Amino acid sequence: SNRTFTMIKPDAMENGHAGAILDRITKAGFKLVAMKLTRLSKEKAGEFYAVHKDKPFFQDLVNFMSRGPIIAAILEKENAVADFRELIGATNPANAAEGTIRKTFAKSIEENAIHGSDSDENAKIEGDFFFNHFERVG
Ligand code: GTP
Ligand code: MG
Repeated sequence: SNRTFTMIKPDAMENGHAGAILDRITKAGFKLVAMKLTRLSKEKAGEFYAVHKDKPFFQDLVNFMSRGPIIAAILEKENAVADFRELIGATNPANAAEGTIRKTFAKSIEENAIHGSDSDENAKIEGDFFFNHFERVG
């Protein structure tokens, strides 16, 4: 597929990095298909990250992701999922490559600035979680 889904997480929003992160994303060749400023309730954050519900960090993750505004977006580019995961870098910024978004903006393995879908299937599910037909340009 040529689409992925992203969220700029509450830590990056609080620290004023949203504009710089969107600049990195568009300069890397991703086009915006949909975008919104929103906020996840604890219930919605838990639903979004349900795959991690049995992990020890799940409750912390839900609290973190619901503590403030986020920007959610659907992005388009050839090989979108894999190329976007490369652009954002490893989950833990200590392991993220130089020049990646997480290397520059993430504070910790939890407060890591940005989300990127991990498969085409999840990109579709996650995009549909946030956006209806009328909120997309394509
Ligand atoms: P996402 O793009 O947000 O899905 O990150 P990821 O795919 O790189 O990592 P993963 O799906 O495994 O984990 C989801 C999110 O949970 C991470 O982005 C972190 O915010 C958080 N997280 C992952 N591992 C840990 C951990 O060991 N401790 C804590 N506190 N948080 C973690
Ligand atoms: Mg993930």
